[in-house]
Amino acid sequence: MSSYLEAAAAMGTGSLHPGGFMHTLRVLQRFSLSKEDIILDVGCGTGRTACYIAKSSGAYVFALDNSEEMLRKAKYRAEREGVQIQFVQGDASDMPFLNNVADLILMESVLIFLPAVAVINECFRVLKKGGILVSTELFADEAIPLRAKEQIQFTCGLSSIPSFKEWLKMFLSAGFTRDDARRNHLPGPLENLVNVLYPDPYQVVSRSVSTSREINDIVRKYHWLIQKYRKFLGYGTFIMKKV
Ligand SMILES: C[S@@+](CC[C@H](N)C(=O)[O-])C[C@H]1O[C@@H](n2cnc3c(N)ncnc32)[C@H](O)[C@@H]1O
Repeated sequence: MSSYLEAAAAMGTGSLHPGGFMHTLRVLQRFSLSKEDIILDVGCGTGRTACYIAKSSGAYVFALDNSEEMLRKAKYRAEREGVQIQFVQGDASDMPFLNNVADLILMESVLIFLPAVAVINECFRVLKKGGILVSTELFADEAIPLRAKEQIQFTCGLSSIPSFKEWLKMFLSAGFTRDDARRNHLPGPLENLVNVLYPDPYQVVSRSVSTSREINDIVRKYHWLIQKYRKFLGYGTFIMKKV
C-alpha cells in the first residue's frame, strides 16, 4: 500500500475522494435503492458511503477493502450508526464474490491506485446483467506538465493519472455501456468549505497522527499539489451499465 493510503487510513477521513460526501449524495440521488438490492462498496475506506447506503435504503451492503486499519474504522462507524454491513478484507482485483450478483458497485477514488483494467473487469464479472458501476476518479488533462503529473503520482503512489477519455475507454473496453459520464472540476479551497456542512461524526484519527511527522507531511503535500495543479485536474463520475 502507498504511504499516502497509509497516512489516509491513520487520518481516518470519511470521504476520501474528490467531491467528498456531497458528491456521493448527489450521485446516489439518481438511484432508488431498496432492501432488495445488493450493493458493493469496493475500496470502502472508513465506510462512510457504505453506512449511508445501508441506513438510507436498507439494501444488503458489502464493503470491501484490503486495509485492516480502514476496515477497523469502518466497522466502528457501522456499529455507531447501527447498520448491518458485510465487511470483507480482500483485493479489488480478485474479489471473493460470485459472478452476476451485485446490482450496484461503487468505487470512489480506488481505481487510480490499482491496476485499473483488471479491477474494472472484475466489477463487470460480479455485476448482474443490468447492474451499474459508479466510479469517481481523478483525471488529468493532456496539458498537465509531466513534472506535475510525476510529483502527484509519486506522492500518492499512483501508477498513472489517466485523462477523462482514457478512463472512459477502459470502462467501454471492459464491456460496459455508458449510462452517464461527467467531468467535474476540482473544488478550490473556498468551494471545499462547503464540505463543512457535512462533517464526519465518526472520523477516528489514529494516535500515530500526533506523533508521526511523515503522516502529516504526506497529507499536506497531497493537498498542496492538488491545489497547485488544480487547473489541469478534474474528477470524473462514470456511471456504467452492464447490459
Ligand atoms: C482514496 S481511498 C478511498 C476510500 C473510500 N472509497 C472513500 O471514498 O472514502 C482508496 C481506498 O482503496 C483501498 N484499496 C487500495 N488498494 C486496494 C485493493 N487492492 N483492494 C481493495 N481495496 C484497496 C484503500 O485501502 C483505501 O481505503
